[in-house]
Amino acid sequence: MKRLNSQMQQDGAPLELILLIRTLLAGCKEISFRVSQGALAGVLGSTLSENVQGETQKKLDVISNQILKDILKESGYVKAISSEEEDDVVPCHPDGKYLVSFDPLDGSSNTEINSLIGTIFSIAHAPQWMEPDDPAAFLQPGSQMVAAGYVLYGPSTMLAMTTGKGTHIYTLDKTHGGFLLTHPNIQVPEQTAEFSINASNQRHWEQPIQNYVADLLAGTEGPREKNYNMRWVAAMVGDIHRLLCRGGIFMYPYDKRDPGKPGKLRLLYEANPMAFLMEQAGGLASTGEGRIMEVMPEEIHQRVPVIIGSKDEVEACLSYYD
Ligand code: F6P
Ligand code: MN
Repeated sequence: MKRLNSQMQQDGAPLELILLIRTLLAGCKEISFRVSQGALAGVLGSTLSENVQGETQKKLDVISNQILKDILKESGYVKAISSEEEDDVVPCHPDGKYLVSFDPLDGSSNTEINSLIGTIFSIAHAPQWMEPDDPAAFLQPGSQMVAAGYVLYGPSTMLAMTTGKGTHIYTLDKTHGGFLLTHPNIQVPEQTAEFSINASNQRHWEQPIQNYVADLLAGTEGPREKNYNMRWVAAMVGDIHRLLCRGGIFMYPYDKRDPGKPGKLRLLYEANPMAFLMEQAGGLASTGEGRIMEVMPEEIHQRVPVIIGSKDEVEACLSYYD
């Protein structure tokens, strides 16, 4: 089975990017080991602090963030990082060529129930003019990413990644510590009969999503003329993995609760990397108003509405916005 390294070379990734990704993944393998230890290592449960987003930090959020931060800072390949668990940009090496944004442990509330969690990351070029602690360097649209992916800590530890030449899925072989290419060049089915949304927020949704989901729920008797099924992992990384494997549509739409919060998911280290993976696999990713990867970020923890998945279904959903 092909190894990650040779696939990245075949896809034309520059050497320094390959080395950076390998470094990042070394950190993810350590996270994979730590999360698998669970209660035995006393790493479950919450800390007493909140992150900048006002979410209670889990112990594993903090541990995972520290692992990735340390390994990337030491590497020399990275000029600065932005993380869900860091209020501000973290300066790394002044000559580093890349910027890395990550969610160290997406879906971390699932740690308590031994369910899916993962690390999401995106990588862009560091503009030469930037100082390592300048957050403005991160305010590039997602279309500028040079690589993105996630590592899913499930029954198997799996990596989905793109360097802009298709989306490939790898499985960690824990006997020798390598990621092996198990699902090359995946293509998300264009049609689906499966959707994901947190229905408990229904009363807050904007009207196009109200109308769209009502039509899905109407099944064969409604305008969509088929019955849909619903799934919700409560970890974006788990839901997107399912979509990459068998199609579907996932939505965390804009809702009317808080005008200051246009959606729940963060652009730099959740929406953009998943959008890149999805587009490279033939799917679509939109805010409802436009392509996620064209949103110009205004701050590093910016949130966006997310409508992502199988091409025909995302287009059907977007038609409700016309
Ligand atoms: O990181 C935010 C996140 O945990 C996503 O991974 C997930 O899709 C979503 O929030 C779950 O939201 P909710 O708590 O509304 O189910
Ligand atoms: Mn997250």
